[in-house]
Amino acid sequence: MIKLADAFEKKAADRTLVVGVMGLGYVGLPLAQAYCRQGFHVIGFDVSEDKVEKLNAGKSYIKHISDNSVAVMRETGRFEATTDLDRLNEPDAILICVPTPLDKHRDPDLSYVVSSTEEIGKRLREGQIVILESTTYPGTSDEVMQPILEKLSGLKAGENFAIAYSPEREDPGNPKFETSTIPKVVGADTAAESRMAVAIYSAIVPQVVPVSDVRTAEAVKLTENIFRAVNIALVNELKTIYGAMDIDVWEVIRAADTKPFGFMAFYPGPGLGGHCIPIDPFYLSWKAREFGMTTRFIELSGEINANMPGMVVDAVAAELSNRLEKSIKGAKVLLVGLAYKKNVDDMRESPSLTLVEMLEARGAKVDFYDPYIPVVPYDRDHPEYAGRKSVDWTPDVLKGYDAALVATDHDNVDYHVLLESVPFVVDTRNACHMHASEYGEKIVKA
Ligand SMILES: NC(=O)c1ccc[n+]([C@@H]2O[C@H](COP(=O)([O-])OP(=O)(O)OC[C@H]3O[C@@H](n4cnc5c(N)ncnc54)[C@H](O)[C@@H]3O)[C@@H](O)[C@H]2O)c1
Repeated sequence: MIKLADAFEKKAADRTLVVGVMGLGYVGLPLAQAYCRQGFHVIGFDVSEDKVEKLNAGKSYIKHISDNSVAVMRETGRFEATTDLDRLNEPDAILICVPTPLDKHRDPDLSYVVSSTEEIGKRLREGQIVILESTTYPGTSDEVMQPILEKLSGLKAGENFAIAYSPEREDPGNPKFETSTIPKVVGADTAAESRMAVAIYSAIVPQVVPVSDVRTAEAVKLTENIFRAVNIALVNELKTIYGAMDIDVWEVIRAADTKPFGFMAFYPGPGLGGHCIPIDPFYLSWKAREFGMTTRFIELSGEINANMPGMVVDAVAAELSNRLEKSIKGAKVLLVGLAYKKNVDDMRESPSLTLVEMLEARGAKVDFYDPYIPVVPYDRDHPEYAGRKSVDWTPDVLKGYDAALVATDHDNVDYHVLLESVPFVVDTRNACHMHASEYGEKIVKA
């Protein structure tokens, strides 16, 4: 293996190493771009014909990744996308970036990881390294993937081929960071495998942080996301307590954040969203059960965060009654923002459809507006909303609503015209704070 690692390092240094990225989504595509920019030949594998066709035509299908940047990749002649999995024996390094959701019992769904591993295992050749980047529980690489790869290939991990884990730290839509500026943690079980993993990532990021083994690296990713989930739950709880005391939690956080040490700002919201924070902590809860342990912080924060949409809907109902003497039944409510966070077009796990569902269950007539999501895509938990269209953002349209509920604080939404047009706005993101001096009476922070 030492010799394989020597050869691998040399190929990485002189850019003759071929990189395969499996899963060209929010994580895989920027990763493929980072390697292409650094002069590597990159083969992107995906099961979606549609995505592969678009990428090969030099077009992006993700809002914050421009068509131009994909066209540039194609022009270098060093990037191609394919659905032909027989080509998996071509890359020297295969980076797996496929989804890791929860199943309907809220247990880890490793089906995408398992099927990609099986496809790789059938074609695995000596000297390749297989690196999982998808978020998962400790033990996935060595207990789930390694036996599949070894059985299907007849090769031995750590002897003829390498396995490593490197968590993805993408923050879509955040202009301050991109794949190539975020340090990469890598974990492998032998020194030679670790050297190979360090070599491949050192080519695209300023800092690689090796840890002792794959399980430690898997735990690093979960720790980062559990930290977020727990802290978001904490500020959500503080929001309700301070709200009852007539204290503005946003002002509290802003002031606390001036402390230069020992405090990190997290912000409340209408519930958790996105592909990571609402899901990843439960990967650890599931694995902890195998050890007869419970994850009390994770369960408690899950419970607090899951209660938020109900509290927000209660606030809408209470304001309709207090301000307009109207019942929520029959009231016209505009939900502003479907995406799970600002300035992205991604509504995976977003609490917005849950808010629509809860408002409608109480008889409200709900429309939505999201500048990035003109039409609701298919959502496994809310298939009935697929195809519903965003309303036009004009004063005449806005004047037709009894209330607005801001669920996502996109920067390119004109909150001034919203406040001018509707009787009141329930603002879960402090999106209207710029207009508080003029319209403070109309803003309900919830
Ligand atoms: N999106 C984020 O911000 C983010 C951040 C950190 C970590 N992650 C983690 O990264 C992983 C990928 O997330 P994502 O947001 O990029 O998902 P995504 O859904 O955007 O992309 C996954 C891609 O994999 C493809 N795919 C599915 N099965 C495949 C298979 N068997 N072979 C080849 N391709 C296949 C899909 O067609 C899709 O294009 C997840 O584990 C996620 O938790 C995501």
